[in-house]
Amino acid sequence: MSGYFRRTIANRILRTLSKHGKLAAAEVERLERNVALLVTTQDVRKKTRLGEPQYKLDLASLGRTVQISSTQGLMDILAQIQGDVVRECTPDKHAVMISVDPHTFHKEVLDVVQREGPSFGSASLNLPPTEGTSQQTVLVEYSSPNIAKPFHAGHLRSTIIGHFTANLYQHLGHTVHRVNYLGDWGTQFGLLALGFQRYGDETSLKEDPLLHLFKVYVEINQKVEEEKQSKSNNTYQQGLQLFTKLEQGDPEMLKLWKQFRELSLEEYQKMYQRLGVTFTDTQYESQYSHQTQELLTSLQNRGLLKTDEKGVGYMMVEDRGSDIKATLVKSDGSSLYLTRDVAAALDRRDKFRPDRMHYVVEGGQQLHFRQLVGVLRHLDVPWAHRPVEDIHIQFGRIEGMSSRRGTVVFLRDILDEARERILQSMKERKTTKTEDIERVADVLAVSGVMVQDMKGRRNNNYTFSWDRMLSFSADSGVFLQYAHARLCSLIANCGVAMSSEVDVSCLNSDSAHQLLLVVARYPELVEETLMTLEPCHIVQYLFKLSHLINAAYSNLPVKGEATEVAQARLLVFDSARQVLCNGMKLIGLQPLHQM
Ligand code: ARG
Repeated sequence: MSGYFRRTIANRILRTLSKHGKLAAAEVERLERNVALLVTTQDVRKKTRLGEPQYKLDLASLGRTVQISSTQGLMDILAQIQGDVVRECTPDKHAVMISVDPHTFHKEVLDVVQREGPSFGSASLNLPPTEGTSQQTVLVEYSSPNIAKPFHAGHLRSTIIGHFTANLYQHLGHTVHRVNYLGDWGTQFGLLALGFQRYGDETSLKEDPLLHLFKVYVEINQKVEEEKQSKSNNTYQQGLQLFTKLEQGDPEMLKLWKQFRELSLEEYQKMYQRLGVTFTDTQYESQYSHQTQELLTSLQNRGLLKTDEKGVGYMMVEDRGSDIKATLVKSDGSSLYLTRDVAAALDRRDKFRPDRMHYVVEGGQQLHFRQLVGVLRHLDVPWAHRPVEDIHIQFGRIEGMSSRRGTVVFLRDILDEARERILQSMKERKTTKTEDIERVADVLAVSGVMVQDMKGRRNNNYTFSWDRMLSFSADSGVFLQYAHARLCSLIANCGVAMSSEVDVSCLNSDSAHQLLLVVARYPELVEETLMTLEPCHIVQYLFKLSHLINAAYSNLPVKGEATEVAQARLLVFDSARQVLCNGMKLIGLQPLHQM
């Protein structure tokens, strides 16, 4: 039976209950996972001295799980689980504090991490899914940039946080669909086409499609703004006409639109590759622009869709106790962003049958998602009945993002500059061991950007800082990579062979103990993070782990020590490396072995 420490304790408890006739023997295995989840690590973060690791067990929840009503009765029995593993059970309000033997604990933690390796912390192996947390199908939609507009900070955050969210579910054994929903429809295309006719050229488009389309987009929008000042809207009207042509399937327009789309997509693909971000499905807003009719007819037949005096179609939907208006049809009968989102959601329901759906989109679109969920609740979409906050995964803004060239328009400018800066400091540090310096610098740049984004709570805005983001010593992505690479080099160069048969009693040091307490907490943390979908919990944990690892170098030397001691310490370092590596991959980094 595999499992980590909480599971061992749960097993002890259940076996004792069964020995006392309080539980049928057959129940022991069935309840083990549920009881393991009630055993929580107690303030590991605050433990500073070598003490017995402590776990907390909520008695009332245990009583409910094993169907025993008297907490006193449970307490009496629990007092008897003492033995080789459990040192002491002490009552604490409505809970029991369970202290465990440090040596047994160390041995168990090291064994489990070594045995499970890359899947340590992934519940699919540790804890087979049972009733409450059965395997679910989850759809995570993220990134979702617009093709004719720049990829802005909101899209960057969506890409990073969404990728993490999908990783988390996948890591915990769920079936995940990763969807990129590309904005390739809307009046902006009419304007862009007009702009391209006026100011664009094929050569520049092929050379650097994103930059060229952006320039054209800016120029045509400036024109629209200028005309607005002089109370004319000629250009805007022409743009609208072109979009109408596109909607009607005009071949010229379609050809242009397809070309913009393909070239932009290629560029995005390069960027995703650089970030290490992947998708299982790409969906296009345009594919839903013509699928809205059936939906609207059905809403109309059910008396849900109303039409105002201008011919605009809308629905009133419930939101937090009041009614809000959700507009679904323009006066000319065409669809809106919201209508297309409704159609896309129905399509996903039929295609993927998700139990859960997460849209990872900036907080600014809150109203849109409230409207969307409100409409979907009328349309037999099971997941739409979950709270909106669970569906729309929001995040705040990035402030002050600018590069040497000024205000940032493209993510690649940020990544390029980050890489340049890193290369510079790698050269200055002269400690660089890698020959592959360009690639390493790029991975570090990406790590810096990603970790800076996931350090704080999602909903907080944060201020972009080059120095903090790329620091080797302060809490940053570069710092994590450095901790990992340094561990790899210690392990490779210590001159000691790794063995899993070590004598843990050699580990009589506070450093090793603290490190293993934190290592042991990882699976629990991953599971808790599923409740909040806050990457900062994992990131902060990895910082803590790295600081402890760094502190352990001087306290736990390996090279030159007696074999027994050296092997035990090496195993501690290797287990810490494994967890650091697993956590880094979970947040979307590619751990470096050398830098
Ligand atoms: N393309 C949209 C934008 O950039 C974001 C799409 C979010 N997803 C959705 N299903 N509406 O604003």
